[in-house]
Amino acid sequence: MNTPSIRSRKLDHIKLAMESRDAALVNPGWEGIRLSPVALPMLDAGDIDLAVEFLDHGLKAPIMIAGMTGGHADTESINANLAIAANECGIAMGVGSQRAALQDTSLVSSYSVVRRHAPKAFICGNIGISQLAGEPMSSAAISDLIDMVEADAMAVHINVLQELAQPEGGIILSNALSALADFIRRCPVPVIVKETGCGLDQKTAVRLKEAGAAALDIGGAGGTSFVQIEGVRAEQIGDTRKARLAKTFARWGLPTVACLLQVKDVGLPMIATGGIGSGLDVAKALVLGADMVGIGRQMLAAAMEGPDEAVEELRTIIEELTIAMVLTESANIAALSDVEVEVV
Ligand SMILES: Cc1cc2nc3c(=O)[nH]c(=O)nc-3n(C[C@H](O)[C@H](O)[C@H](O)COP(=O)(O)O)c2cc1C
Repeated sequence: MNTPSIRSRKLDHIKLAMESRDAALVNPGWEGIRLSPVALPMLDAGDIDLAVEFLDHGLKAPIMIAGMTGGHADTESINANLAIAANECGIAMGVGSQRAALQDTSLVSSYSVVRRHAPKAFICGNIGISQLAGEPMSSAAISDLIDMVEADAMAVHINVLQELAQPEGGIILSNALSALADFIRRCPVPVIVKETGCGLDQKTAVRLKEAGAAALDIGGAGGTSFVQIEGVRAEQIGDTRKARLAKTFARWGLPTVACLLQVKDVGLPMIATGGIGSGLDVAKALVLGADMVGIGRQMLAAAMEGPDEAVEELRTIIEELTIAMVLTESANIAALSDVEVEVV
């Protein structure tokens, strides 16, 4: 147990994620997708219905703030601001890995703050597959994770490359899938399995479906890159070998758009996350087959400014999505699946 190091890693990740935007080495693919326009659409912005059902929960728009933080006192206000925005706009939200709070209960409030500010929102808890692949997680620990945020679903994140490339990493891969299936069987809420920047491929998506996942978050390459983030951390602590590994694999993974195309027919609800920068990107992801769209860094940056900024960012993204729907004459989210796409 190395709680102080987990805590400081949380802050490092936020700081480096903010700095790394311009250094992204992979293109998520949104620029190459053009939606077929209708020059004189026969509906008004007020006619557009963005509402969806996701895992039996009604949302005002198919958007989820990607699980990012908690686990350090300084992250509490960020999670609070994200929750205020999620609540205000009627969308879903995830928290970051809750591992730290299982080890140190003084950190619980950095996660539970989310429920205080978003009493009715769809909230998703979070744990890493590497925490499941050693000893099976006790039923009491699973309940603690859920109760901490009154989770409507749990996310289990996969980040094999990050584990291999981070200075403190270590994952037992040989039993990871069976440990995940066991966790899913014992978890009383639906489990979303998510990649975190290298992208889900079709082979893995099919295995995750067989393991009982309720939904998948493709977490494609082209947005926040933990390989890059861990590379900088390795350099900072003088771990030259890990720094080199991170450089070698800096472009690894499937860009988000490529993941979407691989995974959309697997037959599970799909969240598209990775490099979403606007409501137009959200519309493109929905047209390509996503059921929900996850936004990480862009919302984190706004929430670090304050609650009003987080709400404003989300409202702007929703307005951009609405405009894209008017311009493609799509009255509701289901209608987006009829929009033609040009790949440029
Ligand atoms: C600072 C930071 C911390 C993150 N921590 C977690 C985490 O603990 N668990 C998780 O599943 N994903 C985590 N993520 C990944 C996000 O959920 C998301 O997949 C990723 O940021 C890609 O979206 P983006 O390109 O919009 O940032 C984190 C992302 C950021 C930026």
